[in-house]
Amino acid sequence: MTDEIARKTLAAAAIARAAGDLQRKFFADRASIGMTFKGPQDYLTAADGAVEKLVMGMIREAFPADGVLGEETGGSKDTRALWVIDPIDGTANFATGIAHFCISIAYVHEGREEIGAIYDPMRDELFLARRGAFATCNGRPMKVSATTEFARAQVELGWSSRRPIRSYTEIVERTVAAGASFRRAGSGALGIAYVADGRSDGYAEIHINSWDCLAGIVMVREAGGRTNDFLGAGGLDEGAPILCGNPTIYVPLGKAAGLL
Ligand code: IPD
Ligand code: CA
Repeated sequence: MTDEIARKTLAAAAIARAAGDLQRKFFADRASIGMTFKGPQDYLTAADGAVEKLVMGMIREAFPADGVLGEETGGSKDTRALWVIDPIDGTANFATGIAHFCISIAYVHEGREEIGAIYDPMRDELFLARRGAFATCNGRPMKVSATTEFARAQVELGWSSRRPIRSYTEIVERTVAAGASFRRAGSGALGIAYVADGRSDGYAEIHINSWDCLAGIVMVREAGGRTNDFLGAGGLDEGAPILCGNPTIYVPLGKAAGLL
């Protein structure tokens, strides 16, 4: 099995790079993006479908026995061997010409987050992690930040229209009142990878979907950080809150977000 996971880790990295190459091509030709909306402030582009098709096809060809779940086309939820894909995370950025988006691929094995691959094609950064083994950015080991005081922390607070705005503004108020600074860059997957790489001290969002966060969760844990039990909270079915951070900032951030 270990060899099989190693093979899947390499495949996740290669598939993420191929997907990122396709994203870059669409992004270079704004007219090809084909922007529509799935719901309020929920962007969908023709590129999302094309990238998901490419990724699903590559995974199914390489690992026909595994299940696949994609943001755009759905799929299996059998966590014995399951690939979870967000073809473009940061779709609003992508659709409006802002170069901050990525492909996110997670592999769940026997109910546990096992592999995470997140590729940012515009910065050519590949974040890759395997449970119990490593978390790297372009091959360099990642480590969460060493910030110990919440009053010096930089955290990302994710927002979507899936929850009332009041719940977001309350979290922002509590975070700022406790002295931390907050950002929202529009890609949950990259936001969580940045926690693993020590660029943010934590990330919190009261509702996020599995394809946005499972890959990043593997990275944060392997980089020495802490995360909530997203799958245990039923995140694969309906989404769930996400909370992650360096081991110290995790607690005050969780309190500010109302998650602890
Ligand atoms: C969204 C982004 C956003 C996060 C939302 C996601 P999309 O995904 O990751 O940063 O806050 O929860 O839905 O729409 O860009 O694929
Ligand atoms: Ca997403």
